[in-house]
Amino acid sequence: MSDKATLEINGEKYEFPIINGTENEVAIDIKSLRGSTGGVITLDPGYKNTGSCESAITFLDGEKGILRYRGYSIEELAEKASFLEVVFLLIFGELPTQEQLSKFDSDIKAHSVVDDDIKKILDAFPKSAHPMGVLSSLTSALTAFYPSTVDVSSEEEMYKAIVRILAKFPVLVAWTLRKKNGLPLDYGDNKLGYVENLLKMMFKSPSGDYEQNPILVNALDKLLILHADHEQNCSTSTVRIAGSSHAGLFVSLASGISALWGPLHGGANQAVLEMLEAIRADGGDTKKYMAKAKDKNDPFRLMGFGHRVYKNFDPRALIIKKAADEVLADLGIEDPILDIAKGLAKEALEDPYFVERKLYPNVDFYSGIIYRAMGIPVEMFTVMFAMGRLPGWIAQWKEMRTRNEPIGRPRQLYIGETHRDFKSIEKR
Ligand code: ACO
Repeated sequence: MSDKATLEINGEKYEFPIINGTENEVAIDIKSLRGSTGGVITLDPGYKNTGSCESAITFLDGEKGILRYRGYSIEELAEKASFLEVVFLLIFGELPTQEQLSKFDSDIKAHSVVDDDIKKILDAFPKSAHPMGVLSSLTSALTAFYPSTVDVSSEEEMYKAIVRILAKFPVLVAWTLRKKNGLPLDYGDNKLGYVENLLKMMFKSPSGDYEQNPILVNALDKLLILHADHEQNCSTSTVRIAGSSHAGLFVSLASGISALWGPLHGGANQAVLEMLEAIRADGGDTKKYMAKAKDKNDPFRLMGFGHRVYKNFDPRALIIKKAADEVLADLGIEDPILDIAKGLAKEALEDPYFVERKLYPNVDFYSGIIYRAMGIPVEMFTVMFAMGRLPGWIAQWKEMRTRNEPIGRPRQLYIGETHRDFKSIEKR
């Protein structure tokens, strides 16, 4: 393949370098386009064809259903690694040795206390507040307690900011749930592993201890790994673009949480469960909802189906479907919602509308079923997604800052009024 792409505009030819990624992906480097052509830009709403950065963190091939973190396949990581190992891998680029992992774990634990004044902020929220709004606000509020900006050229400062947020975020997640459930805000137990501690902080009753269920610990560990990064998705791009103004790590993460909240992104896991519940309440007629999803005059979409980049299958959905089956079988739960979900998936996979548009169940189609079996309220599902995505956001923010990327500032094609003279109010 040529190493240059040629563009012809009004008879004038312009050449742009073609660059290749390590997985033979091809990109046209258009950095000089506007300057050399006297103002021509590319237009790509939704950025379906636009690479915003070069990144060495996550590789995915949507056509082949491949997802790898730092070169390791998601299937192998979900099977063999712990969430904390994956966190280290994403952020620092290599799987940790036992010694590195133990140090990382104890460094995180050393920062696990959250300033008591955060409780006052949480207290001011109504119980009805959506947990994603609460989590985003609390994450942002952390900046008030740690106001100094991170000197990103100092590895030590960067490391400290990273372990600090990794330590405090699960506390915020747990407190968000406890506030919703009207339970006292408590701490976990630093003797426990990262995921066990999270579960304990979420569910410990004020009058008793919390007994760990290894099936749930395993399932949650896996879910967090599956959600840990997904290259330049909506929330991650938001974190990178917010951080590109040199806004701090915690507020950049808070913007990512807000972006994740929407039902077309992380909020889909809540929307899926609500949809399945609605179908059940309506008599369980999946065909009726299939017809609604296909009707162009009906805004209804089959939540949990389709993906911007996976156009054959979402590898995470395969892993999670198996995990959902195992968790429900191990816990002896028979969930009619799961039957509806399976029915919908089967019908959609055979329906020409879905087949032609390459709409397959995505990761969020099944994650809610596991969260529900764990006793996590539906409104908390997207918070659990945020907990999983935290290391990805951190890794991407760190990469963007250490590569010293320029501020993110897209262009636009203006389609408004051309110049007009101001009319005084009495003449309008
Ligand atoms: N149900 C019914 N039709 C759908 C669905 C769906 N879930 N998803 C896409 N379509 C149709 C569209 O109507 C469109 O049809 P048309 O070509 O006849 O106009 C076609 O499929 C292409 O859809 P787009 O919206 O252009 O695809 P895009 O890549 O922009 O959107 C998205 C991907 C947002 C995920 C979409 O499939 C969707 O809304 N899915 C439901 C929400 C969801 O599950 N989101 C979670 C994503 S995974 C994540 O964030 C972790």
